[in-house]
Amino acid sequence: MQSDHEALQKAAAEHLWLHFSRMGAYQRGEEIPVIVRGEGCYLEDTHGNRYLDALAGLFAVQIGYSYGDEIGEAAAKQMRELPFYTNWSYAHPRAIELATEVAQLAPGDLERVFFTSGGSESVESAWKLARQYHTLRGERRWKAIARNVAYHGTTMGALSINGVAELRTPFEPLVPGVFHVSNTVAYHRPEGETEAQFTAWLLDELERTIEAEGPNTIAMVIMEPVQNAGGAIVPPEGYWSGVRELCDRYGILLCADEVITGFGRVGAWFGSERYGIRPDIITCAKGLSSAYASIGAVIASERVAEPFLAPGTTYTHGITFGGHPVQAAIALANLKIMRGERIVEGVAEREGTFRDTLATLLDLPIVGDLRGVGYFYALELVKDKDTRETFTDEECEDLLRGFLSPRLLEAGLICRADDRGDPVIQISPPLIAGQEEFDRMTAILGDVLSEAAERMSGAGSRQPVAPPTRVGASTPA
Ligand SMILES: Cc1ncc(COP(=O)(O)O)c(C=O)c1O
Repeated sequence: MQSDHEALQKAAAEHLWLHFSRMGAYQRGEEIPVIVRGEGCYLEDTHGNRYLDALAGLFAVQIGYSYGDEIGEAAAKQMRELPFYTNWSYAHPRAIELATEVAQLAPGDLERVFFTSGGSESVESAWKLARQYHTLRGERRWKAIARNVAYHGTTMGALSINGVAELRTPFEPLVPGVFHVSNTVAYHRPEGETEAQFTAWLLDELERTIEAEGPNTIAMVIMEPVQNAGGAIVPPEGYWSGVRELCDRYGILLCADEVITGFGRVGAWFGSERYGIRPDIITCAKGLSSAYASIGAVIASERVAEPFLAPGTTYTHGITFGGHPVQAAIALANLKIMRGERIVEGVAEREGTFRDTLATLLDLPIVGDLRGVGYFYALELVKDKDTRETFTDEECEDLLRGFLSPRLLEAGLICRADDRGDPVIQISPPLIAGQEEFDRMTAILGDVLSEAAERMSGAGSRQPVAPPTRVGASTPA
């Protein structure tokens, strides 16, 4: 007789198409990690193994995994009252309440909330919104500027905006008119360059790109307050005020993609607030419901909404599930918990000790840089700390996918070893994590990275550890 575990493995291998996964290995009998339970910051698999989830699902489960009862009650109540109705020409109370609450939490005059089913749809909707905004004002602007190595989603528009070449090329030709500028990773900048010089260099490059591509044709600049891909890349001083100033000068809308940074991850409700960004549009998803529901949003300023309020005018865009009442009820319950439990304040209070704990890993020869903010960090791995030399593609494959991903999982830690930019370990736990979790993840990372350093210096075995490529091995997001 097959155990539940075996039956799940067989059915998954035969029927479940995993996202961003090397499926072939599973056809050849490699085990698919099947997560069955969550509690606090921890997950459990079919073997009863427990993992500390230092990635909060996918940078999403702000409140952790233990609020199923409370949130389930809100969902069940809404199911009984009104399981579905649309936001196409109609409203319902939960969408209205959630829009009001999100508008209150959002900085500045970002007052208008358009709901989506997730982050890619939010980015897609933001680009369309920016294009139609300009059209309504009598300008033909369609292009977008984003940053290298930035991830913005997988639907064709959002994918085209991505700055990760490997994700784009299989699907070319993409939506035309996207241009990429440098991201703000400082670690590999020339020695002796000041922060002010770096900011000036970045802004100069952005301005030259705007000028080269035709200022009157550019609809929006889209950037994350802290960029995820490439490893929690924080902006240098003066960067955001400079980007805002350039957007104003050339009549371009500024969109802050807060799919990850929104709802507490950087120690404020929005990264735009923490960095004084003053965007025209915010895209968000994940943390809005702590990923208990598939709901996202585009939040637009009054200035952006204004041309759409003219008589006979419509934002020619809609999504059946946008603002779904059950999803909205779940997001409302999540925000109530986040406020009641002071989740965002907790991040701001604990971020210093979190960072200090992780910083002990900088003593390891393989850890070159620790960057990030709030509950959003990355450790950059280097071959040579003095020269900051990075690993080759082949070495990255061996180090990240051949060794670190499976070994970290084996050691009970879910985080991400990623090399969309330089090789990094991404750490982004639920926002309820405390010193116990900081210590635990740092201890596991310390052991596994020490082993990795030995391995990469040639002293250790080069045999891949079994089983290779598991949870979080290379998944974008
Ligand atoms: C900044 C950013 N934008 C957009 C997306 C796409 O979101 P989704 O996977 O919900 O479509 C992600 C996903 O991680 C993201 O990090």
